[in-house]
Amino acid sequence: MLDWSDTSSAAKAPAFIPLPQGAVDQTGLGAIDRSGGRVSVDEKRMINCRADVNQLLPLKYKWAWEKYLAGCNNHWMPTEVSMQADIALWKSRDGLTEDERRAIKRNLGFFAASESLVANNIVLAIYRHLTNPECRQYLLRQSFEEAVHTHTFQYIVESLGLDEGELFNMYREVPSITEKAAWALKHTQHLDDPGFKTGTPETDQAFMRDLVAFYVIFEGMWFYTGFAQILSLGRRNKMVGIAEQYQYILRDESIHLNFGIDVINQIKIENPHLWTKAFQEEIRDMIRTAAELEAAYGRDTMPRGFLGLNAALCETYMHFIANRRCAQIGLAPVFDETENPFPWMSEAMDLKKEKNFFETRVIEYQNGGALNWE
Ligand SMILES: [Fe+2]
Ligand SMILES: [Fe+2]
Repeated sequence: MLDWSDTSSAAKAPAFIPLPQGAVDQTGLGAIDRSGGRVSVDEKRMINCRADVNQLLPLKYKWAWEKYLAGCNNHWMPTEVSMQADIALWKSRDGLTEDERRAIKRNLGFFAASESLVANNIVLAIYRHLTNPECRQYLLRQSFEEAVHTHTFQYIVESLGLDEGELFNMYREVPSITEKAAWALKHTQHLDDPGFKTGTPETDQAFMRDLVAFYVIFEGMWFYTGFAQILSLGRRNKMVGIAEQYQYILRDESIHLNFGIDVINQIKIENPHLWTKAFQEEIRDMIRTAAELEAAYGRDTMPRGFLGLNAALCETYMHFIANRRCAQIGLAPVFDETENPFPWMSEAMDLKKEKNFFETRVIEYQNGGALNWE
């Protein structure tokens, strides 16, 4: 039984610390400026803003607000999806091959912890340094969606009777997953350091590196091969409940990715001095390294492959996606031009088109099909 009358934590609140004189409050936590004038749109900036971050209006970045609304209109919960067919298939003796089971478990294990790493990065690294209230509004929505995604993996573990420790600890036990997590985590760690502050070219670039690592690479590249694996099984009528949940996650993630790309491009517009040739090369190197880490994960997850899917196809897909992400942030491609081996992936994002394919219950959302964030 919960005791709502417990106020002990409020009593332990630290004493209020005013900002030193002349400092600009970029967090929104500083002393209230009683003589502060009203905010004008021209003063608003993505990073290092001097305007009050606690005033949403007037809006400057409409794209951020629109993504917030799109996220709200796409609200879903994992428990709305029936897992009956998945449970029957998972418990059947020969409905799935050993290779398919291995790929499914590694895929779930990768996502289960990754959703938390992404959520931590938003809350502990990005939010503090992104000095714009409409972008923060979106970050709050995105944080909740990451919680829904983590909930999805809890629901899958519970429904299928999987070993929860095996799945959730996989990012520390399976080296190809650990490598990806550790590569991204170092960016969160850097920004979460209490001494870290944006405002110099070096630290502003560090902030952009984190945005690239999480929005462009983690959510925009690594998640996409993960979606392709499960949706490919769904297309063959296997694990259709999980596949349906992945469609909803993919729809959310495509907005996260596009929000991140808009943030990066807007910071570039406002701070062209950051986007040097050397920095562009560094970002291209990050994307190339990330694709290599993904290829290693693909070989580990699908050593033999199965119908319609294998490590080589996933690597080709990663090259295709990597080049697309480069173009979206204004960089030259990092790989030779390649065909998309999974052209059905863009169809998979259109839930209305796919709903007859997956013979599961599909919930009509207010704005379910109105998305073009790919
Ligand atoms: Fe997510
Ligand atoms: Fe996300």
